[in-house]
Amino acid sequence: MAFTHPFMLAITISNLLLIFFSQSSTALDSITQSQPLHDDGSTLVSNDGTFELGFFSPGSSTNRYIGIWYKIIPVKTIVWVANRDSPIKGNSSNIKSNMLTIANDGNMVLLDSNNQTIWSTNITSLTTHPLVQLLDTANLVLKEGNKNNSNEESFLWQSFDHPCDTLLPGMKLGWDLKKGIERKLSAWKSWDDPSSGNLTWGMLLSSNPELVLRKGSDEYHRSGPWNGAGFSGQPVLRITPIVDTKFVNDSNQVYYSYTLRNKSVISITYLNQTLVHRKRITWIPENKTWRVYESVPRDECDPYNPCGPNGNCMVNETPICQCLEGFEPKSPQNWNTFEWTQGCVHREPWSCGVKNEDGFRRFASMKVPDTRSSWTYGNMALEDCRIKCLKNCSCMAYSNLDIREGGSGCSIWFGDLIDLKLVQASQQDLYIRMAISGSDEEDTRKKKALVITIPLVSVITILLLVVFLYIYMGKRKHKGKESDAKNMVSTEKKDEEENQDFELPFFDLALIFNATNGFSEDNKLGEGGFGPVYKGTLQDGRDVAIKRLSRSSTQGVKEFKNEVILCAKLQHRNLVKVLGCCVQEEEKMLLYEYMPNKSLDSFLFDSTQSKLLDWSKRFNIICAIAHGLLYLHQDSRLRIIHRDLKASNILLDDDMNPKISDFGLARLCGDDQIEGNTNRVVGTYDYMAPEYAIDGLFSIKSDVFSFGVLLLEIVSGKKNRGVTSTSDTYNLIGHAWRLWKDDDPTKLIDICLEESCVVSEVLRCIQVGLLCLQLHPNDRPNMASVVVMLTNETILAQPKEPGFFIGKAIPSEVESSTGKEIFVSVNEMSISLLDAR
Ligand SMILES: *[C@@H]1O[C@H](CO)[C@@H](O)[C@H](O)[C@H]1NC(C)=O
Ligand SMILES: *[C@@H]1O[C@H](CO)[C@@H](O)[C@H](O)[C@H]1NC(C)=O
Ligand SMILES: *[C@@H]1O[C@H](CO)[C@@H](O)[C@H](O)[C@H]1NC(C)=O
Ligand SMILES: *[C@@H]1O[C@H](CO)[C@@H](O)[C@H](O)[C@H]1NC(C)=O
Ligand SMILES: *[C@@H]1O[C@H](CO)[C@@H](O)[C@H](O)[C@H]1NC(C)=O
Ligand SMILES: *[C@@H]1O[C@H](CO)[C@@H](O)[C@H](O)[C@H]1NC(C)=O
Ligand SMILES: *[C@@H]1O[C@H](CO)[C@@H](O)[C@H](O)[C@H]1NC(C)=O
Ligand SMILES: *[C@@H]1O[C@H](CO)[C@@H](O)[C@H](O)[C@H]1NC(C)=O
Ligand SMILES: *[C@@H]1O[C@H](CO)[C@@H](O)[C@H](O)[C@H]1NC(C)=O
Ligand SMILES: *[C@@H]1O[C@H](CO)[C@@H](O)[C@H](O)[C@H]1NC(C)=O
Repeated sequence: MAFTHPFMLAITISNLLLIFFSQSSTALDSITQSQPLHDDGSTLVSNDGTFELGFFSPGSSTNRYIGIWYKIIPVKTIVWVANRDSPIKGNSSNIKSNMLTIANDGNMVLLDSNNQTIWSTNITSLTTHPLVQLLDTANLVLKEGNKNNSNEESFLWQSFDHPCDTLLPGMKLGWDLKKGIERKLSAWKSWDDPSSGNLTWGMLLSSNPELVLRKGSDEYHRSGPWNGAGFSGQPVLRITPIVDTKFVNDSNQVYYSYTLRNKSVISITYLNQTLVHRKRITWIPENKTWRVYESVPRDECDPYNPCGPNGNCMVNETPICQCLEGFEPKSPQNWNTFEWTQGCVHREPWSCGVKNEDGFRRFASMKVPDTRSSWTYGNMALEDCRIKCLKNCSCMAYSNLDIREGGSGCSIWFGDLIDLKLVQASQQDLYIRMAISGSDEEDTRKKKALVITIPLVSVITILLLVVFLYIYMGKRKHKGKESDAKNMVSTEKKDEEENQDFELPFFDLALIFNATNGFSEDNKLGEGGFGPVYKGTLQDGRDVAIKRLSRSSTQGVKEFKNEVILCAKLQHRNLVKVLGCCVQEEEKMLLYEYMPNKSLDSFLFDSTQSKLLDWSKRFNIICAIAHGLLYLHQDSRLRIIHRDLKASNILLDDDMNPKISDFGLARLCGDDQIEGNTNRVVGTYDYMAPEYAIDGLFSIKSDVFSFGVLLLEIVSGKKNRGVTSTSDTYNLIGHAWRLWKDDDPTKLIDICLEESCVVSEVLRCIQVGLLCLQLHPNDRPNMASVVVMLTNETILAQPKEPGFFIGKAIPSEVESSTGKEIFVSVNEMSISLLDAR
């Protein structure tokens, strides 16, 4: 049509309007062959007037669609579209020729202005009097016209079998297994394009069905299976829900649907592809607007499987992903960088089959794992399910099927548990298989044992108390009041000490960072085998030494803390006190008491400082170190091998009393501490026993060797390595042995000791030192003997030629493979140096 004159245009428009006006009032109650629905504003209205069906163009689109919307609300809300994927291409001049009618074959068809079939119900069953009606539920149905019922079975076709993006009350989402149809939602592609988008929501068929939201073919959110009270992944509402939910699973159908509790409330669920959300919205009549009632995914934990296999997602934790109790990250490195896809693995594998020695741990308030790897047993009791699960080695977990009171049935899961989430206030429990040590069974056993032990302990305690009181009262009669007071004081002191034993403070990283000026170089006291040591000043003014352990340690945090607590319980006046530790992020640190006088080597090997150590002080130091080492080896509860005893690890207090530091470090860093073989040689080669340096074999006797070296160093004031006197190019041990052989051991004595030394004591020390340096560990005395030999005038054994080795320029800490390059001298006097190359 061409408009040549504005006036003509006005007339034409008014004519058009007139046509529309006269026909738009048409509100049909049914569509028949003789009464089609035209695209002229006419609508088909439901009986109660809630819904209407008609032609529309969404948003800015000019395409024509047949759709259903609420007639009773002013905001046009399309709840269903017939021809969403085959629109009538827009042509405003002849839209009124579009029509929805019934074809001769009885199908409902949508014809465009060229009489082309755009869309059809496409059924094969012919009827004589087909009729189309819009029911009050918004279900558009095609049925036999002379039949009077509105029973679902009588419908030839219904729109509820072909949902779009909206789930209306009474609509079924899921499968009709008999007819073989799946009803699922898919979102509009965009606000002006109702064609099928890639966000869909449907029922996942399995023996334990659940609803799944998908993006394309990717699973995006699981509802969790139905457990009688709700979907296991659904939070428990604190308010009364506005809808009643129905879940049906039988041999004919599996579906979910809902009805509104208050029929006058308007509320629907729909998918929104732009937001990638499923939403429930409710009409607020006062404000003439839709309000969002629920939006899924609800939180970070709702998208599918955020934490990987066996990872548990907890919204209120930081980070949200945590391994289940009894599990640990498969790759701790990735896990710590929040890369969770690899998930978690059992900390301790279960034994399966072997003596049936597995158990289960109950996890409360769980969204149960992906049901595709599960089986269900409709009538089985929970206990039987447990037995069933134990019998199959790939069974990982079980849970009840119906958590309501009196509910029965259970399901079991195989393999990794996928998509776990903690659901607040949910009643759903999940029982996960564990090695017996981590299971609830073990806990109950312990509790039972406790229940038995507690009464026993109480009885024994009471008996002891009575006996004690009896004796105490008896003594009291004989002693005066003064001694009573003394007794009281000393017991109080003891209690205090015991308490201190068990209170090992854990320090905050930030606090330590401040105390050491951010681990500044100025605060650095030195660098040991396991990392640097810093001086730090705590907020209360106390000075501490902080050892920052290198990160090579593979030990877990819990084990580390346990070890630190054990080491802190080692208390001896010749050991440096462990004050606490800090385990945070990647850092592991130890806090020791601070020793202002620094270490023994700073005195011993310094020409001026060494004068401060006269013989009586040195002898005292030797004996004290021996006592400290003896405590580590024998008297403590732990039997610690130091493995890095050297002059720089002996710290001196204000009165020049020595304290051994760095003890237990090998243990703290995860090397085992039993006599044995290690693939990581720690320590300093100058002090290292041959068998340890070469084969990595360590024992208390390798500490004895180190003590021997230390002893000679204290006597001579020279470093083991630093001896280049006479023509010898070998070390202090070789030098000492030569002098001993030449019957001239006094030449070994430090010049500055000439005046103060007691020759017999010095000679005894040298002899003990050489005995400690024997090549074969069995020839070396233990520390208990050393202590006796040093302090008593007993006759000592004659030392044989000592064993030692010479290395190349060796760092203080090397791998054992390097150790192979070092050669032990056993030849008398001739010490050879073998180079590996
Ligand atoms: C609309 O229809 C008229 C008449 O049928 C035709 O001439 C015109 O090309 C059509 N326009 C479009 C955009 O399809
Ligand atoms: C469409 O079919 C109807 C009846 O079958 C007929 O009256 C009408 O002329 C047809 N229109 C076109 C454009 O073919
Ligand atoms: C109609 O149904 C038949 C099979 O029942 C199918 O092959 C055909 O593609 C369908 N046509 C339309 C337009 O849906
Ligand atoms: C259909 O039912 C209505 C009332 O429900 C009744 O008045 C009418 O006679 C019935 N018609 C037939 C054909 O059964
Ligand atoms: C999705 O939600 C957004 C924001 O509420 C809205 O603008 C958009 O129209 C919605 N899309 C559909 C298809 O409803
Ligand atoms: C669902 O129904 C099927 C078939 O009746 C049955 O095998 C399965 O155990 C049922 N699942 C649940 C969770 O009830
Ligand atoms: C889904 O469709 C949107 C656009 O409609 C697109 O951006 C997105 O990549 C699609 N997603 C998938 C998984 O196909
Ligand atoms: C149902 O909802 C309407 C409108 O919101 C309200 O007026 C009415 O009181 C409600 N009925 C019941 C039983 O809650
Ligand atoms: C309607 O909106 C007003 C202001 O926007 C608000 O105060 C009121 O609570 C709303 N009513 C309802 C029922 O949400
Ligand atoms: C254990 O479960 C697996 C995995 O589902 C199954 O294939 C296997 O047959 C079961 N074994 C026994 C002994 O029941």
